[in-house]
Amino acid sequence: MNNISKLISLLGGTGAVAEKLKIRPSAISNWKKLDKIPSTKLEAILELSSYLDVNIENFFPSKKLNNLKFKMLLIICGGIASYKSLEIIRLIKKTDIELDVVMTKSAQKFITPLLVTSLNEKKCYIDLFSVEDETKMNHIKLARNPDLILVAPATANIMAKFANGLADDLASTILLASFSKIIFAPSMNPIMWNNLATQENYKTLLDRGIKFIEPDTGDMACGENGIGRFPEPKTIYEFILSYIKESQMLSSQFKNISIVITAGPTVEAIDPVRFISNNSSGKQGFEIASELTKRGAKVTVISGPVNIPFPNCENVIEVKTAQEMFNNVTQQLPADVLICCAAVADWKLIPKTSTNNIIDLNNKIKKTNKNLFFETIKNPDILETIAKSNLRPKIVIGFSAETDNIKKNAHSKLISKNVDLMIANDVSNNKVFGEDYNEVCFIYKDNYEQLEKQSKKSVAYHLANKINDLLVNFKKEA
Ligand code: PMT
Repeated sequence: MNNISKLISLLGGTGAVAEKLKIRPSAISNWKKLDKIPSTKLEAILELSSYLDVNIENFFPSKKLNNLKFKMLLIICGGIASYKSLEIIRLIKKTDIELDVVMTKSAQKFITPLLVTSLNEKKCYIDLFSVEDETKMNHIKLARNPDLILVAPATANIMAKFANGLADDLASTILLASFSKIIFAPSMNPIMWNNLATQENYKTLLDRGIKFIEPDTGDMACGENGIGRFPEPKTIYEFILSYIKESQMLSSQFKNISIVITAGPTVEAIDPVRFISNNSSGKQGFEIASELTKRGAKVTVISGPVNIPFPNCENVIEVKTAQEMFNNVTQQLPADVLICCAAVADWKLIPKTSTNNIIDLNNKIKKTNKNLFFETIKNPDILETIAKSNLRPKIVIGFSAETDNIKKNAHSKLISKNVDLMIANDVSNNKVFGEDYNEVCFIYKDNYEQLEKQSKKSVAYHLANKINDLLVNFKKEA
């Protein structure tokens, strides 16, 4: 019995539903045959289900997806399992997910684009250099349109290409040019899967936030046995549905929550051509901004000078000095959360001659000055000043860059600066600054949680979960 037949039976059977909806029973029989309810009758079915207390989600997953307008791109690579992607298309077509399909050259050795086109009732894309496709739906649009890209089956080849940044065909170019969530469902011979090269590519992709539907273990079409079998299309389909539901939930987790994030270095001029600064790249702060934006927060980033693309968030304000950063953060308040990730210069330096004369800052310091001295002037501590002021957001979070006694020093800062959570990172030996990875410890007043070394994106993900917990606690205590 298919889903719609089961649902109709729970709603009282064909006759009863036809009577309630004032339509002919033959129409309902047709829905059962097609396992699909026409969109014009959807509302009536929903009403009836809710009246009869029938949980529609178990029978009709597309309902949940209706409001989502979810767009998905399926990339089919070449392998013995390529034909199974046809079943994935068939299952996806039962939902309201808008599906586009791209096939690699090797995939076309196993199944044809014509077959995919007829199943998906839409053009299947195969060529990076097609003049016709480039004018209508170019590869950048194909990369940017979808909310999710599923690579299934994913071969060792596409994993290697993506891990190493190769873009020599339509599929690999799309992957490289996309901001979308990417899920790989690998399928390959067990020796290929276990090969160090594949495993290293797998780890690299995992670290970069790519999700994997792990391959199954069992008999392979090639006659060997082991890990690498393509998961059943239904397993992949269910994984996709639960991913969409989870992302739908997460996308409104921080709805109506405003968050200010400081990121990058600050720069203090010594003269018109010289300055002091540090090696902060802005990566950690920007990853946090992206993650919180994805979860529905209204994020403003106040960033020092950086050389990486800005995150996709509500607002990015560029500053140079600590004083400018302080002024701009203050202007963004009140906010619900403040996260100070920037490496702020603690001092300004005022150059002086050996006779204690202040040098004119408008002109380049001349090498004729035999000795040069610097007077230090303390910059405002943005985190501490705001955390102790009456503009204090509900949740205040700092980062602690330390080279020794990491946890102890971070805890002292947590207390002295009056923050709720301090994230300690060990920056000895030039670690962390500018890197893609970070090893952090979440320090609270009474406990701490050490995390493994992981990508800054992944740190941002964990931090977003912690912020959610802190906001829930704040609400409870208020
Ligand atoms: O940008 P990346 O290359 O990704 O590197 C990330 C990072 C190492 C810069 C980041 O993870 C980090 O540790 N940021 C804080 C660096 C720092 O200045 O730590 P601190 O221990 O000196 O300061 C403690 C806290 O006070 C920080 O939250 C800092 O933003 C804040 N502070 C410090 C001085 C100041 N004048 N104003 C401040 O707000």
